[in-house]
Order: sequence, then structure tokens, then C-alpha cells
Amino acid sequence: MKTPRPNPLAPVGIGFTKRLLHTRRVLSALRHWSPSEDTWDAQHDPLVSVILITYNHGRYVAKALDSILSQTGHFKIEINVIDDDSTDDTQKIVEDYAQRFPGVVNCYFNTVNVGHQATQLNTYRGFQTLRGRYFALLEGDDYWTFPGKLATQVRFLDENPGFVACSHKTLKFFDDGSRPPEHFLPLEGFRKNVATLQDLISLNAVYHISSTLYRNVFRENPPLCLADPSSCEVTIQMVYGCFGSFYCFDQYWSAYRVHEHGVFSSRSRENIWLFHLRGFRRFALYLGPGNWAGFLLAIRGFTRHVLASAKSKEEPLLQRKTYLTFLAHFVVATLLTPVVGLLEWLAMSFSPAGRARVANKLRVIGRRAYDRMAVSASPALRLRYLDWERRHPRAARLRALIKSSSTVKESAYIMNETDQSKSFQIETTANNSQLQARERLVHLFEESPIPLQEKLFNIGMYTRSSVLVKYLVLNDIYQRIKNLPGHLMEFGTWWGQNLVLLENLRAIHEPFNKQRVIVGFDTFDGYTALSDKDKPSDVWAENSYNTGVNYVSHLRDLLATHEASNALGHITGRHQLIPGDVSETAKRYFIDNPSTLVAMAYFDMALYQPTKDALLAIRPHLVSGSVLLFDELTWPESPGEAIAFKEVFARDEVTIEKCSLYPSKAIVTIR
Ligand SMILES: C[S@@+](CC[C@H](N)C(=O)[O-])C[C@H]1O[C@@H](n2cnc3c(N)ncnc32)[C@H](O)[C@@H]1O
Repeated sequence: MKTPRPNPLAPVGIGFTKRLLHTRRVLSALRHWSPSEDTWDAQHDPLVSVILITYNHGRYVAKALDSILSQTGHFKIEINVIDDDSTDDTQKIVEDYAQRFPGVVNCYFNTVNVGHQATQLNTYRGFQTLRGRYFALLEGDDYWTFPGKLATQVRFLDENPGFVACSHKTLKFFDDGSRPPEHFLPLEGFRKNVATLQDLISLNAVYHISSTLYRNVFRENPPLCLADPSSCEVTIQMVYGCFGSFYCFDQYWSAYRVHEHGVFSSRSRENIWLFHLRGFRRFALYLGPGNWAGFLLAIRGFTRHVLASAKSKEEPLLQRKTYLTFLAHFVVATLLTPVVGLLEWLAMSFSPAGRARVANKLRVIGRRAYDRMAVSASPALRLRYLDWERRHPRAARLRALIKSSSTVKESAYIMNETDQSKSFQIETTANNSQLQARERLVHLFEESPIPLQEKLFNIGMYTRSSVLVKYLVLNDIYQRIKNLPGHLMEFGTWWGQNLVLLENLRAIHEPFNKQRVIVGFDTFDGYTALSDKDKPSDVWAENSYNTGVNYVSHLRDLLATHEASNALGHITGRHQLIPGDVSETAKRYFIDNPSTLVAMAYFDMALYQPTKDALLAIRPHLVSGSVLLFDELTWPESPGEAIAFKEVFARDEVTIEKCSLYPSKAIVTIR
């Protein structure tokens, strides 16, 4: 590794205007930044830099350092300890670590204390030292609780260039033992699994400082807004949110220690609320006019929440001056939101991209209005309208445009603008007249006079027998494994219908079993390459079945929504989606989760190599009586699956039967 970055100084005495100008310059220079412009030097630089912020953390810092040093993963890290002139033995302890871990633990010690509002100047000093492709932050009194944390986050960011950071849950615990540990932040509503910039601004997503791994977007030139006295993890996340989305894992992998000397934990609720209000104002300016409508909405929501909770019995009353400050912000934000929103739209429509966004937004609004009308209009009125439309093709064209717009645009985005229909056709043994009937069914589905919600409720009306049979097969398998412990897995999920079915079968057959985890593996980029044990296929090729990596967040959302609407819907997070080539992800999954038991696995990739690698990985975890469902075991056109199966399992280890409802599928039971 190269030597650490030269010791930078904390940016003391820099005023707001200078910070604002610098920030606007940096952000606008990086306007078109993407991970492909990453200038990380793989040969010399660590992959991950950790900034450890300390001040009088002598009692805790060894635990923080140990939790970083015990991280697993085959990559180099650096730990840059930024100490704000501690008066206890913090520096001595850190120096001892630096001697024992030369080149890994680096000391950046202030000779005078610069900490003011909290630790922003110190943190900024840390931002200036980063060499890694990714970086994480930790305060000297907190620590990480899972040795695989960094490795999992690194893998996620490696595989998902659309995301700029990823987080996880944090447990807040009370150093004096006065209260049992609890989830960091009182509301789960603060923690969206996938968060856009607007979510971060409107506090739909707030992740504890110890939880997030970021891409090192700014390298040696971090914007000076990060040294603002009202900066904290919330605003740091907003700044990085300008460069991509955030993902949040559902596990608790870090601990936030509440103690009487903690910078934040020792402050009053009122003080923290005022701090955030100032943060909103300042960061609205730092991030620029394009985000003002979002900030106004956020200020409106935040002030309303504070005013309401100050009235509730649990929260302390606000001082009169503070109350008026919040009230004034609420009124001004409410008045300005529509005006600024409109101005933003107008400004946007000056550029072609902006015009397209406005047009799309209008179409989405049109589509929503259309759906709403379709739901509320009587069937007789709808039929009369359709009849009229037949005589007025222009009206029909307009309706078709409105109807198709939002969904077409969204799915094009989801699919990374790849045209799915060109890249593959769904495998079928149907003849021409059957295919024509299918097309007619699609047409009837599209043109159905049934309102959208009722159509969804009656979806069986458009379900073909060859699709229905898949539900029945899975139901049969579910009943077989119902009394076994273990996860349910699918290798090759595509859009994820089986995962959703499994969630709903779980809710039907064992509504109170919240131990049942459902795991889906897929590249989400479509098929990987064939090996010499596979046969080229007419129905799929490399990259066919590509859903686009952005689809993963939609599927996560969908699964969580089904879960929330089922029994015990408040206990969530029983699904895992593992994007990537199964040849790597399956092995890694079981290394990271060695205690996993598996009750059922569905294999539907047809290829030799990933099927074999998944079988090898899963084999030690299969419980006796567990079931493997194979889609192509008996298909001579896709021999890879059967070859892999025969190479992994001996005849006396399993029983094999033909699936009675769906003859080409095979059911394997582990003895
Ligand atoms: C036929 S589709 C699965 C259909 C799905 N089981 C269903 O019933 O709806 C096959 C899937 O395997 C995935 N796949 C192929 N090779 C893979 C690999 N090496 N790793 C992960 N997924 C792979 C493809 O992306 C595709 O989504």
C-alpha cells in the first residue's frame, strides 16, 4: 500500500458563504459522475477506508478498533483515527494499535480541540484522508457487531452500480443498563430498504452513522458543506444521495452506545429538533434549487411532526420561542411548496431531459386519474364509453397513450431499457392456434372493462391452466415440507413469481411461522454463459431473462408488501434477494450464514455450472426429508441440470419422482 494521505488540517474558521460556494462548485463539477469514473488505484490503495472519530473515548475505543480489525473479507482496509485532542488515554491506546497494525491504523491527531457543535470539523478532516474505493464512518464509542458487515456491503456495492451507499440496522443500547437495547430511531418508517435522494431529504430513510458504507465520490475534494456545524449522518447521506440510491440490509450489524458523555445522546430533544431544522435550511442551499421543493415538503412534514409530538404527553413541551420557530417554518413551507414546485417544473422544461420528465409526470398523473375513473365509473358507463371510443379513434389513441405511459416508462427503466421481447421468447410447446388464443387473452386482459383493482382481485380469470398448474405444484411441495425446519430457496427467480407464491403459501399454511425465510438467487442480468456440458437453446441465450438490476428493489418492495398484508404483517424482513452469479453467490451465502437449514429449493436455471455450484453449496444444509424441485431434470434440450445433479448426489441419498401435475418437473427428496 502507498503511504497514507498527508495529514490534513481541520477546516477551522471557514464561514458559511465559502462553504456554500465550494459545495456548489464541487457538486456541479460532479453532476454527471458515475461509478465508472472511479479513480481508485487497485494496486496501491486500500479497498475500504474507515474514519474513526474519537474524543475522550478511552473507555471504548479499543472495542471500536477491534470490531473493525475483526472484519472478514479478502481486501485491504485502512483505519484513519481522527482524534480531537483527547484529554484521556484515547491517543495512547490508538498509538498502541498503530504500532501493532502499521499501515492499517493511521493516527490523525488534532493538537488543539476543534470540536464545536458536534464533531463535524473532525469528521471533515477524516473525509480528506480517504484512499479507498469505499469508506465507512464510526465513532469511537460505537462499534460493529458483525464481522461480515464490510464484506457484505462491499459485495453489494460492487454488484450494484446504481447504489451509492448501503446500510443496515443499528441497535441502540444504554451503557448504564437503565433500559434494554432498542432499534436506533423510534420509527421503522425512517428506514426504507431502498432510498432515493428525495427519501433521504424527507427522512423516509435515516441510517445511523456507524451503518453506512459509501462510494468515495469526492476523493481528495470533499465539499465543505460536510464541515457545516449542522451536518450529521442525515445530511451526509443527503449529499451522497445526489449520486445514487441507498440500500439497507435488514440485519443489526452495529451498536450505538448511549452514555452521558455522548455528543448527541446527551442533548435535549428540543435541541436536536432545532439542530435538524437548521440542517434542512442549510443543506437546501448546499444541494441547490433543484431540490428545494423536496426540502420544503420535508420541512413541512418535520415541523408538523414536531409540533404534534410536542403536544403529546410523552414529549417535553417546546419553549415558546422554539414553538413559534417551528410554527413559522411550517406556515412558510406550506405556502412555498406549490410555488417552488411549479417553478421547478418550469425550469426543468427548458432542457430536453427536463421536458421529458415533465411530460412523463403529466402522463403518470393522467394515468392515475384514468385508473381512478376506471375504478369508480359504473360498468355500463365504461361500456358506453368504449363503444363511443370505437367511433372516435383519436380518443382511443389518447387513452392508449395515457394508459400505457407510466407503466411502459417504469418497466423500460426497470429493464435498463433492454428490449426483453427481442432477447428471448418464453419456452413453450404450444401450437399456432394455442399461441393465437394466448395473444387474444393478452388483448382481453389489456382491454378488460373490469376496473384495475377488481381485475387484480379476479386475476384468475386471465390465468391459463399452464400457469395455474405451477401454483398447484408449489402448493403440493409446500405441504410436503410444512413440518420441516429451514429456508425456502429458489435458484433462478426471474421476475420472482415463485417467491411471492411461497410467501403467500407460507401465510396460508403456517401463518404464524415467522422463522421461514424465503431466499431468491438470480443474476437479474439474465442467463450467464453456457459451459461445454450445456446445449445452445432456442428459447434462451446469454442475458435473456434480464430484468435489469433496478428490478431487485421493486421485487423487494413487492415481497415486503405481501408480507405486510399477511398475518403477523408487522414482523417483516423474512425475504432475501441475492443478486449475482449463483456460482459465486450460493457459496458465499452459506459461508456467511453457516447455521442455515434448507427445507426446499427450486432449481430453474437449466445451466450446468450454476446448478452444480448451488447444489454443492446447499447440500450440507439440507435437512432430511427436504425437497428439491427441478425444472429441467428430464429435458434433453437442457442436459446441464441433470448432469450437475448426478455429479453431486449419489443414488441412495435421494428419491426421485416425476411431478404428477407437471410431468417435465422432477421432485427430489433427501433421505
Ligand atoms: C427460466 S428463468 C427462471 C424462471 C422462474 N423460476 C419462474 O418460474 O418464474 C431462469 C433464471 O435463471 C437465471 N440465471 C441463469 N444463469 C444464472 C446464474 N449463473 N446465476 C444466477 N441466475 C442465473 C436467469 O437470470 C433467469 O432469471
